[in-house]
Amino acid sequence: MTPTALSSLCRLDDIPDGNAIDVEAVVAGETESLLVYRKGGEARAYLNVCPHAGRRLDYAPGKFLVRNGNIICAAHGATFTADDGLCQTGPCKGQSLRDVPVVVIDGTVHLV
Ligand code: FES
Repeated sequence: MTPTALSSLCRLDDIPDGNAIDVEAVVAGETESLLVYRKGGEARAYLNVCPHAGRRLDYAPGKFLVRNGNIICAAHGATFTADDGLCQTGPCKGQSLRDVPVVVIDGTVHLV
């Protein structure tokens, strides 16, 4: 797959370092809300769906609780490691956010 065939999500600079934004994208044929997390020059993306009760992770549209490399679900406080999406504490401990593969090319985050 060439870079031109990739679907761009956002500019890396749209995301404050150490934080996340919400981006809508078509994943597997469905329009989905994605949480896109930035750590320096890298990005990770997850479906904006908590494995506990299926609620959105954001406390307001596009506003996520991200602290010290952890993503905290606004519904019941499940805390996920931003680097891998694994729930460390909370009602879905041991479960993971659904990873959506992305790549950063020339400062733009693309779906793989
Ligand atoms: S829906 Fe996320 S912790 Fe309950």
